[in-house]
Amino acid sequence: MKALIAAGGHATRLRPITWTRNKHIIPMANKPMLSFPIKKIVDAGITDIIINVNPGEIESMSSVFGDGSRFGANITYLEQRGGAKGLAHVVANAKEELQGERFLFFLGDNIILGSIKKFVDRFQDENLDCMIALSHVDDPERFGVAEFNPDGSLKRTVEKPRDPPSPFAVTGIYLFNENFFDAFKTMEPSERGEYEITDIITWYIRNGKVGHEEITGWWKDTGTPDALIEGNALIMDDLQRDHFSIEGDVSKNAQLEGLVGVGKGTKINKDTLIRGPVVIGENCLIESSYIGPYTAIGDNVSIKDSEVEHSIIFSGSSIHTDSRIAGSLIGINAKITDHKFSHPKTGHRLIVGDNSVVEL
Ligand code: G1P
Repeated sequence: MKALIAAGGHATRLRPITWTRNKHIIPMANKPMLSFPIKKIVDAGITDIIINVNPGEIESMSSVFGDGSRFGANITYLEQRGGAKGLAHVVANAKEELQGERFLFFLGDNIILGSIKKFVDRFQDENLDCMIALSHVDDPERFGVAEFNPDGSLKRTVEKPRDPPSPFAVTGIYLFNENFFDAFKTMEPSERGEYEITDIITWYIRNGKVGHEEITGWWKDTGTPDALIEGNALIMDDLQRDHFSIEGDVSKNAQLEGLVGVGKGTKINKDTLIRGPVVIGENCLIESSYIGPYTAIGDNVSIKDSEVEHSIIFSGSSIHTDSRIAGSLIGINAKITDHKFSHPKTGHRLIVGDNSVVEL
């Protein structure tokens, strides 16, 4: 079996972060987001992976994930052709590469806890035509939603319904057989102009054998800053102890509690308290600061006289402020200082990109 990962799109809800990078390389627990789905797929026994990317992004994406050998996989990249016309169109775009085989389709921004092996095994063992993974959510109107018959069997799946027929979201983990491409031929774009994956699933429900399983652990679609920060925290909770090693320099006057990872060349200086889980990259300087739980700090970051928690701080940023930074997403090379450290001393000096959020 092969796997196709959707890693294109423009992630408008994550701007300004996504003006300059594909969202699938945003770091979570200091690893690019897509490395988590790749690992899940390999753990389920599928090693032939095709990553669908936006036009012009093959080089930047392959420079991050390479040929897959470090994941024990064979990764190839495929540019989206014919425009952005929905998820079913992403699969149709990979028809030649999937070569009439049964396949796993995984949305690269879906982060789940636990294995997907049982879904893959059931799809194969029962020779199903399609298999979907559902998750009980509080806000089904944001997702594709499953509708059931009175006997509990699937009736159809519907995309972002105003009035959801059930609380079960269709997650971005799907298994299909080669009939996908016959189904696609019968599709029309939806009102929003997309070939909806939920319409394909409904076609399968009417024309084949479809299995469904509930994901009982957590599942996150990291489409918004809040979801991303929460996903980061959940991943950090799930990381194994050996992920947190101290390779940098920790001063005697600094205190580390719980699981804390400190990368090479990083200095944790005096009067610093770090309460894990926290991961800190390489060549950072942390001084006279408090770093609270669920904070992931990239490489070359400087944090002085500050308090930071529950946040993702990208590489090259610096933070020097009396205000506590919490629940934040700080992009590459961003600089956050207190006005008392700059001139004039009154007023805030802001250089804020489009779609930024600043709470003073
Ligand atoms: C897509 C699918 C939707 C699914 C969701 C899961 O929505 O269209 O059916 O429930 O992914 O992440 P999107 O996140 O692209 O709005």
